[in-house]
Amino acid sequence: MENVTVVDHPLVQHKLTIMRNKETSTASFRRLLREISHLLCYEITRDLELEDIDIETPIQPMKSPKLKGKKLVFASILRAGNGLLEGMLDLVPSARVSHIGLYRDPESLEAIEYYFKAPTDVADRLVVVVDPMLATANSAITAVDRIKRRGADNLRFLCLLAAPEGIKAFQKAHPDVPIFTAAIDEQLNEKGYIVPGLGDAGDRMYGTR
Ligand code: PRP
Ligand code: URA
Repeated sequence: MENVTVVDHPLVQHKLTIMRNKETSTASFRRLLREISHLLCYEITRDLELEDIDIETPIQPMKSPKLKGKKLVFASILRAGNGLLEGMLDLVPSARVSHIGLYRDPESLEAIEYYFKAPTDVADRLVVVVDPMLATANSAITAVDRIKRRGADNLRFLCLLAAPEGIKAFQKAHPDVPIFTAAIDEQLNEKGYIVPGLGDAGDRMYGTR
């Protein structure tokens, strides 16, 4: 599929299987999401540009590579995006963070915004929007719309599970934004849940219903 990267690393797939299992506890689910986000972050940042800087080791001066350009922005779609965000920040602690509060109306499945906060200077930065689930894509499309309105023009979307319907809708709305996911599942059910999926990501992370 064009512009979609499936991160099929064995560790990602192994951890995802445990997360899907309904017997997995809230504590384990949260820990696994954080661990997987390290591996996904590694993949989504693979092509970041580097520039050589001058440093001195205890032995001698040298030129050594560091990340080029402005700090990244991680934009978390609340609530469940925070599970990915925490792990991403473990690897890129200097990243700026945006929070986008959205919930799905259970009837219409439209994404309703209740909170938005982002750095003012997102224009020159790579923005990685994170949410474990890409189902109808209403949430992801709304979040990307919102942060584009703030000025972002270099974006990537990172999730754990994507439905084919969600990928199609997202690519139609935002063809310029590549998708990274750990798996593409079969379909959505009549309630807009990913099948086989893992259930409601926010509820499984926080032990709510
Ligand atoms: C879940 C999930 C995504 C959204 C995906 O959030 O975390 O944000 O659904 O579905 P969509 O692609 O059909 O929009 P939810 O609205 O349940 O909110 P929560 O994270 O606060 O539980
Ligand atoms: N949101 C979730 O948390 N899970 C799904 O399967 C679909 C949307």
